[in-house]
Amino acid sequence: MIKKCLFPAAGYGTRFLPATKATPKEMLPILTKPLIQYGVEEALSANIHTMAIVSGRGKRALEDHFDISYELEHQIKGGSKESLLNEIRTLITQCTFSYTRQVEMKGLGHAILTGETLIGNEPFAVVLADDLCYCEDQGVLEQMTKVYEKYQCSVVAIEEVPVDEMYKYGVIAGKLVDGSDDIYRVSDMVEKPDPKDAPSNLAIIGRYILTPDIFDILRATPPGKGGEIQITDALLEQAKKGKVIGYKFKGQRFDCGSVDGFVEATNWFYDKM
Ligand code: G1P
Repeated sequence: MIKKCLFPAAGYGTRFLPATKATPKEMLPILTKPLIQYGVEEALSANIHTMAIVSGRGKRALEDHFDISYELEHQIKGGSKESLLNEIRTLITQCTFSYTRQVEMKGLGHAILTGETLIGNEPFAVVLADDLCYCEDQGVLEQMTKVYEKYQCSVVAIEEVPVDEMYKYGVIAGKLVDGSDDIYRVSDMVEKPDPKDAPSNLAIIGRYILTPDIFDILRATPPGKGGEIQITDALLEQAKKGKVIGYKFKGQRFDCGSVDGFVEATNWFYDKM
């Protein structure tokens, strides 16, 4: 069973400057809810109640968001606005939140390794909050925990992307298994390849289930693309042993790390209201 979810949330969010100068990018709202809350709700619907957040300098708002604001509660008590806090209040009572800080920004792999202290020696989920996922029937993490239960190895969520967007993603190669049309045994992975070097059009999006041996692998992983420690490189070590599944998830995903994706998500959720 997957009990913990790690949220790497130390990045600067430079694509959203100046909005992210003093506000964590994970706190940018799609309608009235910050991105990180969508991620926490997705984890909770996968029956994961322990949230482990890798934060950094200037990210205090994340901790405050998942806490009670007595002053605010006092101010709106008994009024028409009180109910607006119901959802987050309930969420807080259902989860625990723990935090650690990534002191230096050395890549996603390094951020995940920083979270080891909160995770320990058990399989865990990872959510990159700027990939906002939505599926009416079953959240993407819940779908992935089912895949994990069957295959008992690391699982990455994948999606087909156009060739000219490959450079933004980790890209996998693999073969469909067990007669399915959505489960791949991964044989190769490349972080942000040139289109000509991409092993397929299947890109990794920001949902992972990782087995805890990933931490030792990450410790031994040298800096890769962009001089950063890449989770994709560490996963390749597991993949070489047949221990990574690529899962083509059901549902929508919005790249809220880009202004275009953010606007698209905003419009989509607004229309759905
Ligand atoms: C990270 C990963 C990449 C993955 C992507 C998903 O990249 O390094 O492999 O495809 O997340 O969003 P980033 O978006 O942090 O540059």
